[in-house]
Amino acid sequence: MAVDRESYPRSLVVLHWLIVVLVIGQFLSADGMEDVFRDADNSGIAPGLPGPGIALAHAGFGATILALVIVRFIVRMASRVPPPPRDLHPLLQLAARLTHYGLYAALVLTPLSGAAAILITPEAGDVHEIMKNVLLALAAAHVAGALMHLVVLRDGVFWRMVPVGRR
Ligand code: HEM
Ligand code: HEM
Repeated sequence: MAVDRESYPRSLVVLHWLIVVLVIGQFLSADGMEDVFRDADNSGIAPGLPGPGIALAHAGFGATILALVIVRFIVRMASRVPPPPRDLHPLLQLAARLTHYGLYAALVLTPLSGAAAILITPEAGDVHEIMKNVLLALAAAHVAGALMHLVVLRDGVFWRMVPVGRR
């Protein structure tokens, strides 16, 4: 298979990995946020903005993800990115494209539903939980796809998002 080493623009690579790290952080801070949220809900007081600590980090970094994803989407639309390898099966190209759009959508809807749980109604917390599962499932499929390019297809697609692979 033809090897395509053309990379994504550096700004998109930086945003990709920054967002990945922040999303992992959201899963690590989720328990802290859940505790604060449940206490506020049980006390009958509208949750409001959580106090300092892990829950505030969850809200703050989650909002940061939302902002970065919007910036990333705009940069992405304005950039020239390497096309899929020509000999990649059309169904795999479609699957990759759908997964990417799905990831963008999940990266917007997860923080929005989290913010709605705090600011509008605690019931949005249920939507937030569904969206984080959607995000997890899409990310798992995406990572599996990236590893398939690396190990099975060996077409250079993996290295487009990994700067150390640039030669
Ligand atoms: C991409 C960004 C985000 C991710 C991946 C994420 C992930 C999570 C996860 C995994 C949980 C635990 C849910 C469970 O297992 O039941 C959670 C809970 C929660 N998150 Fe987020 N979150 C994000 C952004 C936000 C933002 C921006 C806010 C608020 C400004 C927020 C507010 C909440 C609240 C209030 C809960 C508790 C909901 C409940 O227990 O019903 N999250 N989040
Ligand atoms: C080990 C982890 C990961 C690897 C190796 C990886 C690798 C890649 C690669 C190689 C691409 C470019 C694909 C192409 O050229 O067609 C890409 C794009 C993308 N990745 Fe990841 N990724 C990882 C984790 C994640 C995670 C966890 C998320 C979401 C939170 C994510 C979101 C995205 C998005 C939205 C794109 C689309 C880029 C575009 O706008 O075209 N990635 N990733």
